[in-house]
This record gives sequence, structure tokens and C-alpha cells, in this order.
Amino acid sequence: MQPLWWQSGVVYQIYPRSFRDSNQDGVGDLVGAIEKLDYLSETLGVNALWLSPFFPSPMADFGYDVSDYCDVDPLFGDLATFDTLLRKAHAREMRVIIDYVPNHTSDQHPWFIESRSSRDNPKRDWYVWRDPQPDGDLPNNWQASFGGPSWTLDETTGQYYLHSFLPQQPDLNWRNEDVKEAMFAVVRFWMERGVDGFRIDVAHRIMKDPQLRDNPPAPGADQIRHKDQGEYDSQLHINDMGHEDVHEIYRDMRTLLEEYSVEQPRIAIGEIHIFELDVWSRYYGGELDELHLPFNFGLLAVPWDAKGVQQFVNALESTIPAGAWPNYVVGNHDEPRIASRIGQERARIAMLLLLTLRGTPTLYQGDELGMEDVPVPPDKVQDPWGIRVGDLSLGRDPQRAPMLWDASPNAAFTDPGVEPWLPIAADHEQLNVASQLDDPHSMLALTRRLLAERSASPALSLGDYLPVEVESDACMVWIRQREKERYLVALNFTDQPQTLSLPLGGRGKLIVSTHMDRQGSEDLASFKLRGNEGCLLKLE
Ligand code: NOJ
Repeated sequence: MQPLWWQSGVVYQIYPRSFRDSNQDGVGDLVGAIEKLDYLSETLGVNALWLSPFFPSPMADFGYDVSDYCDVDPLFGDLATFDTLLRKAHAREMRVIIDYVPNHTSDQHPWFIESRSSRDNPKRDWYVWRDPQPDGDLPNNWQASFGGPSWTLDETTGQYYLHSFLPQQPDLNWRNEDVKEAMFAVVRFWMERGVDGFRIDVAHRIMKDPQLRDNPPAPGADQIRHKDQGEYDSQLHINDMGHEDVHEIYRDMRTLLEEYSVEQPRIAIGEIHIFELDVWSRYYGGELDELHLPFNFGLLAVPWDAKGVQQFVNALESTIPAGAWPNYVVGNHDEPRIASRIGQERARIAMLLLLTLRGTPTLYQGDELGMEDVPVPPDKVQDPWGIRVGDLSLGRDPQRAPMLWDASPNAAFTDPGVEPWLPIAADHEQLNVASQLDDPHSMLALTRRLLAERSASPALSLGDYLPVEVESDACMVWIRQREKERYLVALNFTDQPQTLSLPLGGRGKLIVSTHMDRQGSEDLASFKLRGNEGCLLKLE
């Protein structure tokens, strides 16, 4: 079968609030994104954009609380601006994926306003309402992701409504056919406008246990999770998300996408925070008839060393269903920046890893520069998560700080003199797009080089992944191969130099070192890597 665009392509995530502010209100917008399309397609060379929500929203969760799924919030522009963005991206052969938030609306969505107006309103059942227990207690023990119980009492009607996140984000009831129909109409609306696909927010959460049974207590240390979420981790989240019936919804959604895919292939990517690979991989569908790509967040959770990463990649490669296509993520607007998590040098190794594994990479804006988390003073904190849980380290503002375009006072995210919605990184005079474009050793130079090599090479974009066993515990090595074309990737995860005696022998042409200072032909029987160096070689 002919590979599709999302298999050979690289997805770049734009978090619109923080990408580029064209109208000097301190918040990024769609015109700002349009202004940067040449950067994305020409300078960087990515072929798909994923835009985080730009829909009308009270912004309790910065756009993940949608009050109208079929429009654009005036803060970001309007539908005509979106159409222009789409047309201009397509003219540059870039695809556009938009966020789709099915689990919950805003409490200001007209559906919820109707639903809460009375117990017998026709939209009552569009959300999940329950009486208090006879003793007045909450309907069950579920906890919201952003702290506190998942239930809020509506005083007027005397019932609780369910919200997996903030009280301002009531959960839709996908067991109601009208909800499904209305939400599928949203999918049609955007496909008819020409979007190339959807990134489905917390895709696994839309179907809960139909009886809303309590979650059992968590067993403790053996739970697989990628960050400490405090109290929330005291339960095993088996009833408040991921019910079997979810698969039927995604099969139906896939059928809908296929209807529109004859002329223009569309993609469904699911945000699925499931770390058990067998459970995660089921979202591809038994007949590969659900999501094209359930986001794979495994690299956020593994120990960052050669063994940890290699074991995870090998496990993924052997678990993924035949014919399904892998994908990898090392950062997004919810996760601390990779360069802050593992350091600048190793972030370069992560970039080489991300762009040379088999599978679609998703690159978060600013990671191509090695942007770091930006500390936010307590009085400027925006993210409700950190505020509600009372542990600001859970807040996601640092990774959402504005993109750094140049050395000017507001880094050309917005005009000098405007206060950006989150602070600009203190080191932006050194670390920005303009300065890195002038520096042949920069992270941006490395990213561009890797993207160019990947897009020119069928082996790198589509080839098989063949792990290579090496004696050293410090290094991870693999081959990407398609027909006669073969590349070798070798990563040294330690700061000590390593010499690898690669079982293949022969020579390889060094294409790129993460240090951006090495070229030439290398003897594979004795291949040297400096500390924290990764290399991409073409096998001769
Ligand atoms: C996942 C999104 O990525 C995150 O930013 C948001 O807060 C939650 N889903 C709730 O929609």
C-alpha cells in the first residue's frame, strides 16, 4: 500500500497562544501563525501542523474548554483567518490538523447552559448528572485530573454533574446518541472546510463505566505513570475512563473520516495517556479501523538511558499491531520541556532519536531551539492545574512560554512594550530562531539537517527499524532500512566517550553528529562517540 502523508511526514505542534502575536494583545493568534508558515515549511521543513484549540472559549483551561466547536475565538481571529491559514499551508504542501475536544465542553457552551437549566430539559442527558447519595455524599469517588472531586453540585437542580477536569469543563455523555451525532457534525464541519485531521483530546476518556462504579485504590509503586499527580494517583483509574465501548466510537469516527478521505486523506490522532502498550495499541483498532495514531507518550515516562529507551522502543516495535504505524512524542504543551528535563546536550540526542525512529514524530514548538521551561512568578501563574492542586510544579505555564524568534525585547513574539501573557525566557537574546539560524552548530541547525535528510530518504522516513546489539550499556544503536538504502543511528547516553565495535563492520558515511562538527567516512569496527554524542551514518 502507498504510504500516506502522515507516515512519511513530521508533525509540528503550534500552541497558538504562544507562537506569534500579530495584533499586540500579548496572546498569539492565527495571523501570527500565518506569518510563520515560511519558517515552518521552508526554514524548518515540516509537513504537517497541529494547532492546539483556537475555538471560542472562556479560557478556564486555555481553550480546552470549548464554548463553540465551529468557530474561532476573536482572540485568535475568525473563520476567514482560519481558512486563509489552511489555504496557505496547503499551498506550501503542509497539512493542518486541528484539536478536537470531545470529552468535555465549557460550562458556557449553550448545550451545558440548557442542560443545567432544569432536570427535564431535552439536553439534560447530554451531560452526566447524578443525584447525591442518600447520605448526601458525592455520586462516587472519582477525582478530577486537575484536583478535587470529579463532581460539582448544581444548586438549582440539586444534582451533581461530572467533570474529569475543571468544574468549568463538564463531561459530555457519549452514551447519548444525540451527543454523538452533534459531535460528529463538528468533525464534518471542519472536514468540509478542508482540515486534514484531528488530534483528539484525552480520546480514551470519553467512555466511562456505564454504572459509574468507584475506582479502586491504586496498588502503589508498581503503577506505570509518567508524572506524580498527587492525590489523583491514589486511585486506579479503571472506571472513570477507557471503557471498552470507546472503541466503537472510534470505529465510527474512522468510518466518517474515510468518507472524506477519498480525495484528501484525513488522520485521527488520539491523545491517549495509557502506558501499558497492549492496552494503548488497541486504539489502532482490531482491524486497524480506529485511530491512525494513538499518541505514544512512552518516551516521556522511560528512564532516560540507553537501556531504558532501547527496551521501550523494542517493546513498542514488537507490540504494535501488524500494519499499524508507530509515532513518538518527546514534548508538548502539557509536559516540561525536554531540554529542561534532560539538559541541552541530551536534548540533541532526543531530537536525533525522535527524527530517526520508525514512526511519525511530533515536534513541539520551540523544541527545535532547545527552549527550556521558563519560570513563572507566583503572581503571574495562569495554569489552573498548578493553582488548584496547590503544587505549582504541576502547572504547565513554563512549557507554554512564548516562542523566541529573535533577540529583541519580546523576542518578536509580540512587540516590545506589550506584556506577553506568559514571560519571555530570560536567555532569549542568545537562544532564538534568528541567532540559531546564524550558528551552524545550533540545535536549530541540527533539527533542520535531520528534517532535510529524513524527507529526502525513504529509509529514514519509512524504512524498517532494526535494533543492533552492542556491548556497551551506554549506547543505543539501530538501523533504518528500505530496499538497498540503510542508515545507522548510534547514541551515547553518557558523558563518557565510547568506542563501538559494530557487528556489521565496513564503513559508514557520517551524515550528522549532534555536535554538528563531524563528517567523513567512519570505520564501523571501531566507531567513536564523544560524551553525549549521537550520530547518523549512511551505510556504504
Ligand atoms: C489534554 C490537553 O492537552 C490539556 O492541555 C488539557 O488541559 C486537558 N486535555 C483537558 O482538556
